[in-house]
Amino acid sequence: MLPTTRKDASGFHAKPDTALLCLRFLARRYLVFGVTGFVVFSLLLRTLYVRREIPVAELPVPHLEPTTPEERWPGMRLPPLYPQYLQYEHQLPQHHWNAPSHATEPNMFWIPGHSAGSGWGNIMQEILLNAFLAYKANRAFVFYNYTWNSDLSQDYSDYSGKPIPSRVPLSALIRGPIVGGAWPSGVNAPLAVSEEYWHHACDSRKVVVPRADVHDHVSTWFVDAITTGWVNKLHSLDHEQCVEAGGDGGPPYTWVTFGEKDAMPGIWPEFRTSPILTHFAHSALVELAFDTNREIFSPSSVLEPPLSAAPLALPAAQRYPALPGLLVLHIRRGDYAGHCAHLARWSSTYLAYNTLPELPDRFDPPPGGAWGENTPENVALYMQHCFPDIAQIVRRVEDVAQTDAARGLEHVYVMTNGAVSWVEELKAALGASGRWKHVASSRDLVLNWEQKYVAQAVDMLIGQRAQVFIGNGWSSLTGNAVVMRMANGFRPDSTRFW
Ligand SMILES: *[C@@H]1O[C@H](CO)[C@@H](O)[C@H](O)[C@H]1NC(C)=O
Repeated sequence: MLPTTRKDASGFHAKPDTALLCLRFLARRYLVFGVTGFVVFSLLLRTLYVRREIPVAELPVPHLEPTTPEERWPGMRLPPLYPQYLQYEHQLPQHHWNAPSHATEPNMFWIPGHSAGSGWGNIMQEILLNAFLAYKANRAFVFYNYTWNSDLSQDYSDYSGKPIPSRVPLSALIRGPIVGGAWPSGVNAPLAVSEEYWHHACDSRKVVVPRADVHDHVSTWFVDAITTGWVNKLHSLDHEQCVEAGGDGGPPYTWVTFGEKDAMPGIWPEFRTSPILTHFAHSALVELAFDTNREIFSPSSVLEPPLSAAPLALPAAQRYPALPGLLVLHIRRGDYAGHCAHLARWSSTYLAYNTLPELPDRFDPPPGGAWGENTPENVALYMQHCFPDIAQIVRRVEDVAQTDAARGLEHVYVMTNGAVSWVEELKAALGASGRWKHVASSRDLVLNWEQKYVAQAVDMLIGQRAQVFIGNGWSSLTGNAVVMRMANGFRPDSTRFW
């Protein structure tokens, strides 16, 4: 991932003024150009290098790409493609496939440049804002697959040597208004439609708004400014039923906004009370995984009805209350070793969703960093917050366990992509305090074949319901859990970072 924010080199300590924002904006632009340029240059160099190194006569016989998934991943069970969810989306009652005209249907808004090819956390944080924008503009949100690879000729993609589904229909991950479900009573907004339906109803007569038409007049990367810019533009097109955000230059909310620490405060009071968040729900598939694993991550002493049996109309705050006694830790491993070092080099702040106004833990990049580098002491500080080792994790948990919000904690659940052996070592270290009745991790969940490929959403749901949550300020998976906790009225001091 590219650096999300850069420390201001100016040395000014005043509040960000327009000039400074402008500077940061320019700096980021140049950074993007610089990075893109560098990548293009290195690719070019590589091509030249490879050409010179290997004389044509000695070129190896081209290795033919295996044609079927079975040949590509021999002996491996192929992941599910969730056709029943796609069929459900197809059959939503607001889709009038056979209507002779779509003139009486609501206005729609489609964002073809939405992100793809990242973890669920990254994709979901953007979906929430895209749906919010469509809602504000009084247009039907056009929802889309969680897409790893948009090439429809390939149902499966390779992830570290293993097949994963190239796409997961969004309704296999979430429910509610974002994926075409009903709005809560009293909300008069058009129902979301699927991407396929948009193509069916709109492809021949859509109006495309180039990104620059809006963003050239938006002077910050903050969500409120971007949203206002787009809502005004869309209102000027109220007579057009089919409007598309130009795929050029990226979607309305990009990685720069999601990495900007001041991006959220302006929009938060409105966003948190919007039906996008108050009636957000995870899919039945995800909730069933929660129910069947409940005794693993949060053993209960009284019989509670299963979450998946709760009526869908229930607001999120009642559907997803805190699980008393549960402490959830989100610990990123694997690729984060390199990612955290990279964040240190660019003096990154926590992500936008992890910098909501009421949160007690802030991270101010320590002084001393320069363009693309940082001091060893600062790098160590970043690692402590972003890639803590077992001793640091145990110490932080001890500190948080002393707080008021932590009263009555009994069980620990570790959300992690760490290797099983490392996780077992961590569980033993946490257990050594004698404080916990039970310590479990993502590795202990029992998931069926369809749940296995949406496991990040299962973890997110467990994290958002913890009595106390300690997350990673640079993780978007953490960020979504944080947003849900805060929107659902959890006490702010129950949401902490490493
Ligand atoms: C969504 O994903 C499914 C499953 O791979 C695929 O059949 C469908 O065509 C995709 N939809 C779009 C609009 O790409």
